[in-house]
Amino acid sequence: MLIKIPRYNEPLASEITPRELALSRRLFLQGMAASSLAASAWVWPAMATESSTRQRLPAQRNAKYSAADKPTTLADATTYNNFYEFGTDKGDPALYAGSLKTRPWTIKVEGEVKKPLTLDIDALLKLAPLEERLYRLRCVEGWSMAIPWIGFPLAELIRKVEPTGNAKYVEFTTLADRAQMPGVRSRVLEWPYTEGLRLDEANHPLTLLTVGMYGQVLPNQNGAPVRIIVPWKYGFKSAKSIVRIRFTEVQPRTSWNLAAPDEYGFYSNVNPEVDHPRWSQASERRIGEDGFFTKKRKTLMFNGYPEVASLYSGMDLRKFY
Ligand code: MTE
Repeated sequence: MLIKIPRYNEPLASEITPRELALSRRLFLQGMAASSLAASAWVWPAMATESSTRQRLPAQRNAKYSAADKPTTLADATTYNNFYEFGTDKGDPALYAGSLKTRPWTIKVEGEVKKPLTLDIDALLKLAPLEERLYRLRCVEGWSMAIPWIGFPLAELIRKVEPTGNAKYVEFTTLADRAQMPGVRSRVLEWPYTEGLRLDEANHPLTLLTVGMYGQVLPNQNGAPVRIIVPWKYGFKSAKSIVRIRFTEVQPRTSWNLAAPDEYGFYSNVNPEVDHPRWSQASERRIGEDGFFTKKRKTLMFNGYPEVASLYSGMDLRKFY
C-alpha cells in the first residue's frame, strides 16, 4: 500500500522491502521452521508443506466457489503479507505476528441489528458449516495470490443478528493493541484498522468470514483468528483480526480511505479499467509464479468474479472507485 504524502517520520510503503528481500527472509524463516513442516496431501496435493504446529480445521470444499487457479504455496502466502499492525515490510507480519494472542478472542456484532451478539471465537467457529474455497486475492499494489480459505458466508452471521431497516453498511474494526502489535506505535495509518462494505456486498454469497486456510486455522500473519475475505475487491478491504462488526446507516470511515482518499475509495472493486492515480491496474504479478521478467497477467474485472456486477448496475465505477 502506498501513501502519497509523507505525514510523519514513518517509513512509507514505497520504501517497503522489495520482494527479493522478503523472500530471502522467507527462506531464513523456512529454514528455522523446517523441522515443524510436514508434507500434506489432505486438501491441496499441490501444497508442498503445511505447518504441523497449527490446528487442523476440517472443511468441506465448495467447488462452486473455487477458482481453477493453481494455489499459491503456503510458504508464499504466509511470508509476503500486508498487516501494518506488525510493520510495513512484507516480511514483518511473519516475523512479528507470533506475539498475537488469539485465545480468548471476542467479536462484538452490534449497531443497527435486532439481536446484537457477543461471540467467543470458538462459538463463532460453530455458527455455520465451514467451507473451503480457493479465492484469488488481488492486492492494490499489483500482486495477487490464490488461497484455499476456510470459513462461511458472512451472510450466515448477518441473518442471525437481524439487521434493522436502517442498516445500510457493515463496518469491520480490527484489533489495535500496542502491547501485542509493534506497528500500532507507528502513525502510518489511523488505528484501529477499519474497513466497510455496503450491506448487499456483505450479504453476497462470495463474502467469506474466514477462520482458516490450507486446511488449518489462520496463521497470525494472515489475520487470525478471524478476518473477512471479499475476493472481488482489492485486498485491503479484507480486514484481518476482527473484533467488532457494526451495522450502520451511514457509510463507515475506512483506514485507507482516510489515509489517502484520492487513491483508495470505499468500493475498491478490482477494475483493470480504472487506474490507481499513480499506476495502472490492468495487470498483475502472481506471487510465486510470475517472475520480474515474465509478462504480467491481465487483471480481470471484479477479479474474475463477474457475478457481483449486478451489485453496481447504474453506478459509475470511475466515480465510485
Ligand atoms: N487488515 C489489517 N488489520 N491490517 C492490515 O494492514 N492489510 C490489508 C488486508 N487486511 C491489512 C489488513 C491488505 S493491504 C492486504 S493486501 C491483505 O490484508 C493481505 O492479506 P494476506 O496477507 O493474507 O495476503
